[in-house]
Amino acid sequence: MSHLRLFKGTPATREFYDSVGWLRREGILVDTATFTSRDPGSILVSLARRRRQLISEAIGGPGMNLVECGCGGTPATFLADLCRRYTAVDFSSTGLAEAAAALQATGVPFETVEADMTRLPFGDGEYDAAYSAHAIYHIDTPEGQSAAFSEVMRVVRPGGRAVLALANPFPIAFPARLFRRAAAMTPVLGTVLNRLRTRPPLPFLPMPLSWIHHQLARWGRVTMQCHTIPSVWFDQHVSEQSFIGQRLWRAVQLIETSSPAAAMRLGCFVTIVVERSAKPAL
Ligand SMILES: C[S@@+](CC[C@H](N)C(=O)[O-])C[C@H]1O[C@@H](n2cnc3c(N)ncnc32)[C@H](O)[C@@H]1O
Repeated sequence: MSHLRLFKGTPATREFYDSVGWLRREGILVDTATFTSRDPGSILVSLARRRRQLISEAIGGPGMNLVECGCGGTPATFLADLCRRYTAVDFSSTGLAEAAAALQATGVPFETVEADMTRLPFGDGEYDAAYSAHAIYHIDTPEGQSAAFSEVMRVVRPGGRAVLALANPFPIAFPARLFRRAAAMTPVLGTVLNRLRTRPPLPFLPMPLSWIHHQLARWGRVTMQCHTIPSVWFDQHVSEQSFIGQRLWRAVQLIETSSPAAAMRLGCFVTIVVERSAKPAL
């Protein structure tokens, strides 16, 4: 078996990020232009700040030795103040060059490591904390995602934490998305629909939250909370400047801030926190 076949990450994802996603067009990263709001209003800005705050509180610190897996060109620089050392991992060298520039600006001691997160080049328990956002669902097989979860948890020390931002495949507030995903996961129908639909720019396989919980629970206590209710489409097409848009954004804000449990089931993205136990049930 060739060395490369030991890795379970997805070559098409790497290819997309190396040759498209982490390039700049008119100074803006293509990934940022493709997946984030073009015109964020004050509610979106305040929600983004709150989401970052929740992640910072969940991950621990200060003084952490932290590894971010799948940092791409936009590492979580908002965590830098909590770290004594920051290790930024990705398999896109283009992304890592951007990550280095962003981390340099924070002043935190850091290193960038080009590696596949399904096979991390680190020892067991080497880090106090691990963070990974919007990366694992771009691995296009359940086996690959399972390997990534195991690797992220393996490198966290007992008592440390992993915080993961992932997609909810069945967001109740977005029924079209929910039904599309349910159909895509149905045998035969899924195969037919996958042939018919327009190809997304890169592989995307959001796994059911129960499956993710099962993967992680063997490593320690798992808690899930809402990360973001809106979809990427909503972020980009519903403007706070319009009458209806502003009301929709206010509703999102109200639910995310006052009913986190409901928000988790309703919304498109979740934050998962795993407290690594001393004796994982492997
Ligand atoms: C959508 S970007 C997310 C970037 C950043 N974490 C954020 O939230 O803005 C996904 C990143 O995950 C990386 N990635 C996906 N699969 C990976 C794997 N198996 N090993 C390492 N990096 C991976 C991609 O190269 C890309 O940089």
